[in-house]
Amino acid sequence: MQIITSPQEFQALCWSWRCQGLTSAFVPTMGYLHAGHVSLFEWARANSQKVAASIFVNPTQFGPNEDLDRYPRDPEGDAAKARAAGVDVLFMPEPGAMYPPGFATTVSVSGLTEALCGRSRPGHFAGVTGVVSKLLMLAIPTTAVFGCKDWQQLAVIRRMVRDLDIPVAIEGRPIFREPDGLAISSRNVYLSPKERAQAPSIHQGLLRAKAQVASGESDAAKVLADLADFYGQSMPDAVVDYLECVHPETIVPLQNVSGPALLAVAVKFPGARLIDNMLLH
Ligand code: PAF
Repeated sequence: MQIITSPQEFQALCWSWRCQGLTSAFVPTMGYLHAGHVSLFEWARANSQKVAASIFVNPTQFGPNEDLDRYPRDPEGDAAKARAAGVDVLFMPEPGAMYPPGFATTVSVSGLTEALCGRSRPGHFAGVTGVVSKLLMLAIPTTAVFGCKDWQQLAVIRRMVRDLDIPVAIEGRPIFREPDGLAISSRNVYLSPKERAQAPSIHQGLLRAKAQVASGESDAAKVLADLADFYGQSMPDAVVDYLECVHPETIVPLQNVSGPALLAVAVKFPGARLIDNMLLH
């Protein structure tokens, strides 16, 4: 596996693959790789001739009071995991190389960035769309691979790629979970043992809501009220940041969940803010 830090070198290598007619899959990450990331690499390996991945803790998607400085990092461990999963090239740029002096361009997607995480984390999605469009221009992959845990991020990226005619297929892969159901996230390491013991309730609650919908409940307000109670009782150390039923593509809130519907949740423990989601059908 090659490790490249220069954007120009990374782009030259990816271009050479494209010019040879090879298919490539690209997995952008912020590192501190876990089993969920590895599952994305493995999907990429199985479905394309070349695999590129990036590790870049993108400063522009963190708010002023967020965890940029303490975001967990393990470049050597990450490189070993990427190598073992069959990644051909790992792009690990420095912030100064991605955002050189004078950098002045933003990419923003309106509407679906304003709900859910967009409301709690102003500016977050502009940071994501900016860096993802830049990474896609560098990697020019056949397919770019993202996890569905950040469902809204995936919906925003799909919108951006369609709107800007970026010639890449977007592949969303299922959420990877711990045996007790907690969605795997780099931020889980921040949880205290007591918080970690409560956190699987996030997923249990989503399953409970899905079962209610399967047995005929279609009123989003009722499903959400029951779930808010369940979370209040099962996670006394957490505050619900948002809990909403939305349309999976447009992220517009729904009153009736008999059609396509996504249940999305963010909870704040003192140690970490966690997100999760589930399609209700
Ligand atoms: O999901 C992430 O890890 C990041 O938001 C991404 C897509 C790598 C952009 O920095």
